[in-house]
Amino acid sequence: MEFTVAIDGPAASGKGTIARAIAAEFGFAHLDTGLLYRAVAMKGGDPVGAAKSLNADDLARDDLRSLAAGEAASRVAVLPEVRAALVAFQREFAQRAGGAVLDGRDIGTVICPEAEVKLFVTASPETRAERRWQETGTGSYEEVLEQVRTRDARDMDRADAPLRPAEDAVLLDTSDLSIDEAVARAREVVAARLAR
Ligand code: C5P
Repeated sequence: MEFTVAIDGPAASGKGTIARAIAAEFGFAHLDTGLLYRAVAMKGGDPVGAAKSLNADDLARDDLRSLAAGEAASRVAVLPEVRAALVAFQREFAQRAGGAVLDGRDIGTVICPEAEVKLFVTASPETRAERRWQETGTGSYEEVLEQVRTRDARDMDRADAPLRPAEDAVLLDTSDLSIDEAVARAREVVAARLAR
């Protein structure tokens, strides 16, 4: 069975947590596509060459989850050649037998516009900055809020595959939801589509 769940949204919206929970619940494979951009950025050198030659070792680095890697990722992610080099891998992953969940910024709009389920997970910049700040324990809340706003602007304003909800995406604002509540909402959407 091919069944793709596309989960998009800005940094620290909760999309990764929801994606992992949905994958575990329904037995789907999960791809955090942000890691691809983070790995390209951290590889250094020419980002287009890095994207074309990305391998498993690059994705296994232990520094990919840092704030600096996220910031660097959003800079290489504006380059159309970098994005193009990563498309085939993501589409193949999405078509795995047994179902797949991909989370990122352009999954429902560009990578998998035919996905069976599309979720757009969001939360206020203040809520997301608070979460990121608690999670990383680095810098001040104000600095993290500034980084969140800068990254949002870069992801939303880029010409190629900007961050935006697909027209048929289900919107999920997690600002006032616990993780369990947000996961439960997402689970309902997936279960309803699977039951059709
Ligand atoms: O989701 P994460 O914070 O790991 O993503 C890091 C950066 O990678 C994002 O800010 C965005 O610029 C880029 N990205 C993207 N398209 C995706 C996933 C991530 O442009 N599908």
